[in-house]
Amino acid sequence: MSKRKAPQESPNEGITDFLTELANYEKNVNRAIHKYNAYRKAASSISKYPNKLKNGDEAKKLDGVGLQIAKKIDEFLQTGTLQKLEKIRKDDTSSSINFLTRVTGIGPAAARKFFEEGVKTLEDLKKIESKLNHHQQLGLKYFEDFEKRIPRAEMEQMETLIVRELKEVGTEYIGTICGSYRRGAASSGDIDILLTHPDFTSESQKQPKLLHAVVDHFESIGFVTDTMSKGDTKFMGVCQLQQSGEDEEEYLHRRIDIRLIPKDQYYCGVLYFTGSDIFNKTMRTHALEKGFTLNEYTIRPVGVTGVAGEPLLVDSERDIFEYIHYKYREPKDRSE
Ligand code: TTP
Ligand code: MG
Repeated sequence: MSKRKAPQESPNEGITDFLTELANYEKNVNRAIHKYNAYRKAASSISKYPNKLKNGDEAKKLDGVGLQIAKKIDEFLQTGTLQKLEKIRKDDTSSSINFLTRVTGIGPAAARKFFEEGVKTLEDLKKIESKLNHHQQLGLKYFEDFEKRIPRAEMEQMETLIVRELKEVGTEYIGTICGSYRRGAASSGDIDILLTHPDFTSESQKQPKLLHAVVDHFESIGFVTDTMSKGDTKFMGVCQLQQSGEDEEEYLHRRIDIRLIPKDQYYCGVLYFTGSDIFNKTMRTHALEKGFTLNEYTIRPVGVTGVAGEPLLVDSERDIFEYIHYKYREPKDRSE
């Protein structure tokens, strides 16, 4: 998961920017995930709106924009700013906690704990480096690199390398780079790879070797440079493209997650990790309305008693859309 979302370009950029800033404040400082989701949803609807909004009433017609957000839009359009945000920005607690959560490995709870111990800045973190866990140490080490989004051209180069090297490890692997890249984004925050293999299903034994062989190979060619965590089915780490002859500058270090998924759950996983997170919520809600429960692993019918049945057979993303009578959407059309 990446920490910095791409800014939205729209005639209402000022509004979507302040909504995103409020969303992050709710998530990181207040740990109010519902408020975070509400602001993200409103920002996403508004970013799709082609016209420059004149007032809050006009915005209220859009999905996810309620009275409270409409009022804020009026204040912003009339005064060019928002009192609530001004206060948050000036507040030492909020701004420090918000900052600390930008380090990968530091979530809202750890950020608050560090803040209460007087640790507020990157310099402060460096002083207590030995007290950080390994993931946080890497977050600190590569802080500047991880702040930068990955241009699509670099993502394409990494995809070429990943597909080629995956074949070296085993010809039967299936791999997909999901996340914003699969949705066609101009830049991505991280690399989200999903892997599967016909030998691995939800009925079979665990096959951690299938994942570790890939990670070991990526390490041996110098692509994976660091490990944050390596479990049976999920690797979290750091990668870097090797400089080639013509390149002037070194490539940056990038966050990479690799997940090994049982073959029968692969397409639910691909759907989920392609996102966006807002689209996932919309799709899940639609599934529930049609009597199905959908998550990153399976789609299951929900009986009249409310108990979920056995997972349905899924052999493509399209199958999932069909089960819930939802018109298929290409990844590029899944931002909300
Ligand atoms: P991210 O990598 O966080 O998101 P992203 O790839 O869409 O954006 P970015 O360019 O900033 O990396 O997570 C990957 C996908 O996982 C996301 O698109 C949807 C899914 N997801 C959720 O549905 N809910 C969540 O809370 C998270 C973190 C991810
Ligand atoms: Mg991503």
